[in-house]
Amino acid sequence: MIPLIKPYITQEVKDKVCAVLDSGYLTEGPVTQEFEQCVRDYIGCKHAIAVTSCTTGLELALRALGVGPGDEIIVPDYTYPATADVVSIVGATVVIVDIIRDTMLIDYAALEKAVTPRTKAIIPVSLFGNPLDYDRLKKIAAQHNLKIIEDAACALGASYQGAKVGNFADITVFSLHPRKFITTGEGGIIATNDSALAEWMGSYKHFGMGIAPDRLATQFERIGTNYKLSNVLAAIGFVQMRHINKLLNQRIKLSGAYCELLMGNAEIIIPQTTHNGIHSRQSFCVYVKDRDLIIKKMREAGVETQIGTYCLHKQKAFLRNDRCRIVGEMPESKYAFENCLTLPLFDELTEENQKYITANLLNQLKSN
Ligand SMILES: Cc1ncc(COP(=O)(O)O)c(C=O)c1O
Repeated sequence: MIPLIKPYITQEVKDKVCAVLDSGYLTEGPVTQEFEQCVRDYIGCKHAIAVTSCTTGLELALRALGVGPGDEIIVPDYTYPATADVVSIVGATVVIVDIIRDTMLIDYAALEKAVTPRTKAIIPVSLFGNPLDYDRLKKIAAQHNLKIIEDAACALGASYQGAKVGNFADITVFSLHPRKFITTGEGGIIATNDSALAEWMGSYKHFGMGIAPDRLATQFERIGTNYKLSNVLAAIGFVQMRHINKLLNQRIKLSGAYCELLMGNAEIIIPQTTHNGIHSRQSFCVYVKDRDLIIKKMREAGVETQIGTYCLHKQKAFLRNDRCRIVGEMPESKYAFENCLTLPLFDELTEENQKYITANLLNQLKSN
């Protein structure tokens, strides 16, 4: 079976994890801080804050910006439900708009139309690692006085106009779930250039603690929670970050090979990368007809493929939620939900694997 993904777990990763276990320091600590430093240096942002997941990071971001009941937050329909869950969790109203089929990203015009005097922030998603059109988003945000929280769950490594994702939104949150190529098993990391927001989020995730020279002087300055990322998990991400350029280049190379192997086939549409952006290729996705049948048949042929992600407007969680406004019919999101197919992509995928996968996909499409 050719799997969809395979986390990058080398002897170097195992040695670092074992060293942490041997140290006995298992909670958040110096290794988490080293990992945060690596991410900060890589992105070139001022602050990177490790948390337990992208979802808790997004919730933290909303709380840091004071979002709560009565506020509206706009999100795209085609995304993992966590993007919208967090809005409900803090008691605000989630406003759902369609996407653009070509890029699979939020429809900027629909987003702007959905703004009301209650809109406080937007959560655009750099889905699958495709960076957003930040120029356009920032213009909309400035015009309507909105904050941008980017759900960059899949976009660590992506860039736009020469700068890494993590530098454009007020707060950007990445996932470190094992589907992502830098993973800590479960985890997330927040990037921001705003020191006041960073200080608040760093404290809130740590029981609301203030910065103190020693334990005796500790003050709990605010009500907080525990979203800390343990040294054990951070060790995995820390070693992987040493290799991020190699891993990212490999994903870009493998995606290029997929494009070449699939190009010129009318049955397959390859979504576009945002103009002036570099896609981190968290997932390599195409649009095909009869997608569900293809997933089944490819599995029988030894290839694991998957859907892209979900449509919020089809989920009971949001249909039943009276603090949820679905704007329009969502034809583009529905199309993506029904036709997007994700192909295997991981560091060790070989040329032979890719030839087998694409030949099999083309055969399935022809025989349907
Ligand atoms: C777009 C998007 N947002 C949020 C999440 C949730 O991330 P996590 O599992 O780190 O909470 C995911 C997970 O895949 C995602 O794809």
